[in-house]
Amino acid sequence: MFLEIEELQINLGEFYLQNISFSLEKGDYLSIIGPTGSGKTILLESIIGFWSPDKGKIIINGEDLTQELPERRRIGIVYQDYALLPHFTVFKNIAYGLKKIQKQGIDEKVMAMAASLHIDHLLHRKPDTLSGGEQQRVALARALIVEPRLLLMDEPFSALDLQTRHEARQLLKQAIQDRGTTVIHITHDLEDTWALANKVAVIKDGHLIQFGSLEEVFHRPASQFIATFVGVNILNGEIIRCTDGKSNINVNGFELSSCDQACVGSNVKVAIRPENIIVFKDPPASDATQNVLKTTLVQIVNQGNTLMLHLKSWETIIKVLVTHNALGIHRLRKGDVVYALIRQSDIRIIPVQLQNM
Ligand SMILES: Nc1ncnc2c1ncn2[C@@H]1O[C@H](COP(=O)(O)OP(=O)(O)OP(=O)(O)O)[C@@H](O)[C@H]1O
Ligand SMILES: [Mg+2]
Repeated sequence: MFLEIEELQINLGEFYLQNISFSLEKGDYLSIIGPTGSGKTILLESIIGFWSPDKGKIIINGEDLTQELPERRRIGIVYQDYALLPHFTVFKNIAYGLKKIQKQGIDEKVMAMAASLHIDHLLHRKPDTLSGGEQQRVALARALIVEPRLLLMDEPFSALDLQTRHEARQLLKQAIQDRGTTVIHITHDLEDTWALANKVAVIKDGHLIQFGSLEEVFHRPASQFIATFVGVNILNGEIIRCTDGKSNINVNGFELSSCDQACVGSNVKVAIRPENIIVFKDPPASDATQNVLKTTLVQIVNQGNTLMLHLKSWETIIKVLVTHNALGIHRLRKGDVVYALIRQSDIRIIPVQLQNM
């Protein structure tokens, strides 16, 4: 393991970070998500070394860094407000940390880093003359130039417009892939998580309530709270049949078939992502790999560039993500009978009881 966080505990009086344990492999990209005030920033700051933990360990490459000074941990950080030095040029901002660890070859390194992040034309400027996206890239360059073994980012894209944010994600992805950097990135934008992360940690009230792969957390949330937070449908069901590696589940009177295995007779939770459901006005042609559900469209919620349809089947509400276009093309209206098509492989069975958190 590259990074090991072992039972980390920090008591700040009114806030208590409780027994956090997880580990990352080299090159992992961890996205930390959770409600505001849950302790995400405190956790990041304790990994950098700003807080001394009451208990627990922070280990990188087998080396216990828990008592090590922040500047000796070789951890890079990008803050939400970038924290650039206002009186220094872009060049000096990027070179700042590098000068502390090497005396020669600084110019070449800064030029190369600036070129890779497309800011080489800005090196003579001061930070307050730059756009938000440019400042963000300078902050990233400054963090990466010292070749940190771990890069921490606290909502690095939150001040950027949508287009700039997409570009910043692509640049970041390229920069860290080229270097094999391990990253921990706090975000409120789940698109960051989808686009960048391979691991996800969910923090709530100072607890780590789920840690796992992107697939695990976004498709098999460990609690109803996480399901709602990551926007996945959770239905209650009972396994009625298992044949050929497929399971049939009774969900409130309708039957779903899943590629997941479970014991006949067991009560389970079924998770279906809203973007994995297609809606039709007429019964679609189905085959053995698909489920077709007859439902009623009871609500259409405008979410800006997408819509969330609420489909009712018996007493169960299933949410479906669609584009405005799809709604128009299929002539869907509130109150219509509609058919939901869901692939068996998109119906995930969560066999264990969900946690209360
Ligand atoms: N120095 C401090 N002393 C005591 N409590 C603090 C201190 N700094 C932060 N807190 C509290 O710790 C809790 C967690 O704060 P933190 O900044 O980690 O939240 P967060 O998950 O990063 O939230 P956000 O998403 O809003 O950034 C908050 O309730 C905050 O008020
Ligand atoms: Mg924070």
